[in-house]
Amino acid sequence: MAIYVCDNCDSQFPKWQGKCPECGKWGTIEEVKTITSDDRKKKGKIIQAIDINKSSSLKNKKTTTQIKEFDRVLGGGFVPGSLILFSGNPGIGKSTLLSQLVGNIDSALYISGEESIDQVTNRIKRVNNNIPSVKFLSDTDIDTIVSAIEEYNPEVAIIDSIQTLSVDEGVGTIKAIKKAIAKIKSIKNDTTIFLIGHVTKAGDLAGPKSLEHLVDVVLFLEGDRNHQFRFLKSFKNRFGSTNELGVFQMKDNGLNQVENPSQIFLKEQAKNTSGSVIGSILKGRRSIFLEFQALVTPTSFKHPKRRVSGFSTRRLSMLLGVLTKRFNLPLGKKDIHVNIVGGLNVDEPAADLPVAVSIISAFKNKPIDPETVIFGEIGLSGELRTVSDPEKRILEAERIGFKKIVCPFFEQTRDFKININQARTLKQALEFLK
Ligand code: TYD
Ligand code: MG
Repeated sequence: MAIYVCDNCDSQFPKWQGKCPECGKWGTIEEVKTITSDDRKKKGKIIQAIDINKSSSLKNKKTTTQIKEFDRVLGGGFVPGSLILFSGNPGIGKSTLLSQLVGNIDSALYISGEESIDQVTNRIKRVNNNIPSVKFLSDTDIDTIVSAIEEYNPEVAIIDSIQTLSVDEGVGTIKAIKKAIAKIKSIKNDTTIFLIGHVTKAGDLAGPKSLEHLVDVVLFLEGDRNHQFRFLKSFKNRFGSTNELGVFQMKDNGLNQVENPSQIFLKEQAKNTSGSVIGSILKGRRSIFLEFQALVTPTSFKHPKRRVSGFSTRRLSMLLGVLTKRFNLPLGKKDIHVNIVGGLNVDEPAADLPVAVSIISAFKNKPIDPETVIFGEIGLSGELRTVSDPEKRILEAERIGFKKIVCPFFEQTRDFKININQARTLKQALEFLK
């Protein structure tokens, strides 16, 4: 039996095709033979199951990076022998953070195919108080790199970057990268390997998606180039939750930790301007307040523009649908820009209400009180849905000194001093915001 697998995006098909219907690439689909239980019987293979208690691959010991915000996202530290893909846009700070890590561990091997020993050394010196003991290898050949890691057996090896690794199949293509990862995985010692991968478009790390299943952890560092803040997330983590957020600030001495980020972006808030509202976001155990901005202007195009940064375009279309259909807002001839200030990409349903309210506020040119915090998921009929942990958000808003909350219904288990307005629908929420 055979199946057909796209080399670029890993989609599977029952028949061969010249062009992959999933990713649109030509000539990437190849036949892969699958083994049926009949084949196995013919070969006389015995299937052996392993007792999970005896499996040595289940390692739970974690080593701290001594950077709290980093450990938080890793799930307490890095697991010896694990393979971690560290992705992000060029220039965002990947090399910087890993240069800080090498100062906190016993032994490291920094492999760079991008930069010279001077560049790497200078960065490591700049971000560490003491000069750590680090070995440097300038190479891109995967076999040389694998041998070096086996020979030096460091606690951590950093490969900067996967795009420069060369294998027989080439450099930088998905096929080449996959081959390189397979070779890296054949390394048997307990070295933790950080593989740096540049992302060009969102989700297209010559794509973290298609490499995700090959590694144990996928980290992603993001941020707005115009701000100093950087956010560390994980898309996948075999050893911890993917819901944690690490917050850093890029300074002269590298990425500094921001341990209490709940209001970092609010200082610059444009007060009493229409289209600006404060929303509440929960990431792991922390609550963050962000400014949501919208701009609604008459379009001069046949198809009006919808630009969004920090929020999903698809979710925005859904919300615009609700606003057009349930509120008769004539948005069809308007260009709409939505921006979540600070560069954090928010994928939480609780962001629906602040996004919708910012658009309505911009459309009607009516400012929203800057001391009000709003959050809530919006359903297709304009109803508000409960989101996770409303009391945690409210408690933090109260602590910071906000005056009012507009949110969906929830079961209140304690008293608050702050003025809480629970709404069943978007319409009702807007009444509370008047
Ligand atoms: P870098 O870690 O080289 O990015 P990446 O490896 O993700 O491509 O970071 C690049 C930017 O960070 C660069 O614009 C310079 C800045 N930077 C600082 O502001 N402070 C520092 O201490 C360092 C090392 C870099
Ligand atoms: Mg770099």
